[in-house]
Amino acid sequence: MTQAPLLIAHGLTAGYGKIDILHDVSLEVRAGEIVSIIGPNGAGKSTAFKTIVGFLRPREGRVIFNGEEITGLRPDLVLRRGLAYVPQGRIVLPQMTVLENLEMGAYTERDPARVAAALERVYALFPILGERRRQKAGTMSGGEQQMVAIARALMTSPRLILLDEPSLGLSPKFVTLIFEKLLEMKRGGFTLTLVEQNATRALAVADRGYVLELGKNRFEGPGQRLLADPEVKRLYLGG
Ligand SMILES: Nc1ncnc2c1ncn2[C@@H]1O[C@H](COP(=O)(O)OP(=O)(O)OP(=O)(O)O)[C@@H](O)[C@H]1O
Ligand SMILES: [Mg+2]
Repeated sequence: MTQAPLLIAHGLTAGYGKIDILHDVSLEVRAGEIVSIIGPNGAGKSTAFKTIVGFLRPREGRVIFNGEEITGLRPDLVLRRGLAYVPQGRIVLPQMTVLENLEMGAYTERDPARVAAALERVYALFPILGERRRQKAGTMSGGEQQMVAIARALMTSPRLILLDEPSLGLSPKFVTLIFEKLLEMKRGGFTLTLVEQNATRALAVADRGYVLELGKNRFEGPGQRLLADPEVKRLYLGG
């Protein structure tokens, strides 16, 4: 029995003002997968995420999530359906504590017991956030702030999390840690889709990957197959 994909983005054409950036872009994510999207700067990777979560309305194409059409639905309503988004640039509320940031993440959740359970799960995944819960998020290191940003998205127990450049700008130690955490999240039952500059690592953790270039689908396949593909290697993996 094959399950229907959790997310289907089909034939997305979208952009800013009159300029199309995405041209007929399609991708799918199945429950339990890590899917990685790679491609050069300006390829439209972040634009694809913004279109899927409702910050941009596609000029053509559809987004189906969990069997329902969400094309053009407002981002807060998309989140309520179970699709969380961590934007590029590890955005936290710097004057608020780690705990307050996490509680903000759970704003769609009314039941305090569920918030408490989500907090516990987040602290188990990122113990440092529990230790530092009273610290202002703006005083955490870059890598720690990225953990806050990811953890905040987990607070709604989403069915799918889109992570835009989770490892960007982090020290090698934190890059390794973040990729370990992504695998741990997958083992914990989360479904993840990432956009990553760190293409080799992103494909190494991915069940499947997509290469976008100039706003178009260029390659797709199992992570390991893309990693081994001579053309993908030469063009996108610096070898
Ligand atoms: N708000 C905006 N208004 C106008 N053009 C934009 C806007 N955001 C992005 N663009 C343009 O859309 C194109 C794709 O940008 P996008 O951020 O999606 O690329 P990306 O693949 O995420 O790149 P990077 O790897 O550098 O993050 C770029 O040419 C960019 O200049
Ligand atoms: Mg981007």
